[in-house]
Amino acid sequence: MSYSCSRRTFVGGTLAAGLVGAVSGKPVRESSPIAGDVVPFHGEHQSGITEPPLAPQQQGIFAAYDVTVDNRGELTNLFRTLTERARFLTSGGPARPAPHSSGSGLLGSTLVPDGLTITVGVGASLFDNRFGLAGRKPVELVPMTAFAHDDLSPAECHGDLLLQLCANHDDALINALIDIHSHAGALMRQRWRIDGFRSPQRPSGTPRDLLGFHDDVANHFLTDVKGRINEFIWVHPPSPEPAWTTGGTYQVIRIVRFHLDQWDRIPVAQQEKIIGRHKVTGVPLNGGTNENSPVVYDPQGEVMPFNCHVRLANPQTVGSRFSASNPYVPDKVPPVHIWRRSYQYMRAPDVDGRMDAGHAFCCFQRELSTYTDMQQRLEKEMLVPFITPTGGGYFFALPGVTDDHDYYARTLLT
Ligand code: HEM
Repeated sequence: MSYSCSRRTFVGGTLAAGLVGAVSGKPVRESSPIAGDVVPFHGEHQSGITEPPLAPQQQGIFAAYDVTVDNRGELTNLFRTLTERARFLTSGGPARPAPHSSGSGLLGSTLVPDGLTITVGVGASLFDNRFGLAGRKPVELVPMTAFAHDDLSPAECHGDLLLQLCANHDDALINALIDIHSHAGALMRQRWRIDGFRSPQRPSGTPRDLLGFHDDVANHFLTDVKGRINEFIWVHPPSPEPAWTTGGTYQVIRIVRFHLDQWDRIPVAQQEKIIGRHKVTGVPLNGGTNENSPVVYDPQGEVMPFNCHVRLANPQTVGSRFSASNPYVPDKVPPVHIWRRSYQYMRAPDVDGRMDAGHAFCCFQRELSTYTDMQQRLEKEMLVPFITPTGGGYFFALPGVTDDHDYYARTLLT
């Protein structure tokens, strides 16, 4: 498998065997994940971002917290505790109950890792005056502010910390969350949470979102070329960022509600024009044989409308320049890539009984401005009437925990 970032590999034969090219030789998950999957915890970068490679686990939780401790020593204690629990939960083994609890018991007496990854990010508020960290804030890290069509609920925005938990099955995720609360619950308080899922392949290729389209396809632009993940995703010198951020990345979460009743009422051909790809196959509207075929923009915007989703998100894909006659993107934009790793959600109806379902949009990028520029362009997209962003936040996903002696945020705190 050629994958520029696959230093970590799965331990667990079934998944490795399942990473067989179904579409134009791309490695994709074909078989059902097994509970024994281990995504190694230690590494230069955290897992749960580009790993497991190309096949994010099917269940995901994004949980934001405010820390309740008030000095640097206690904060360090929190990060050490989170590290110890994440190291154990992601590797599995005989369940070791917490000192004051018998453990959830949800996974039986031996904890199965189930492909679990736990990814920790920090929000701008952690760099206020509580811990003396103001001078160490990642340069672009700010609280998320509303874009043109947002209807943000303050109760579901921001946070000192973000925990992203992903696994093959819900019980492994819930066990992990219970365990983390049992050990670290006295040091932080959950602020909001969104639970999501990713579909299996229907019937093949990249999983579909709740609009029915294959989603996250374009990630392969980053994995196809060696070094591109490093160029676009991981912070590394030379950079204006503080040295401690090396190996980390900016993470954006946006809770985006879909108006599925309206979406389902418009013809498929119109939906395809709105996205820029065919619904059933994922093939770009400009043509091709499969979802990984190159996206090429026509200068007149007749095939790929100027304000379709993919064209506005990435006006200039590799090998295809945007047109000077494009009214939506006045200036030349270099190829821009973010690493999308979103989950779908469906939760209790709102007070009026309307379905609350959509996208727990998640992306990672070396510079936060890559995302904000993109989101500003998308304010003019044809998808706008069918979606409403309601929450989320900006975080900095910490560098990886490198070995048994290391812990989350060590380079930030020491
Ligand atoms: C929340 C609702 C959204 C939905 C339903 C959605 C759906 C899709 C779909 C179906 C594709 C085409 C397949 C693919 O390449 O994955 C796509 C592509 C893409 N989306 Fe989104 N997306 C959403 C939000 C966003 C946001 C908020 C951003 C960033 C600000 C974004 C950035 C992109 C990018 C960069 C591409 C690839 C463009 C390319 O290089 O071809 N999307 N999206």
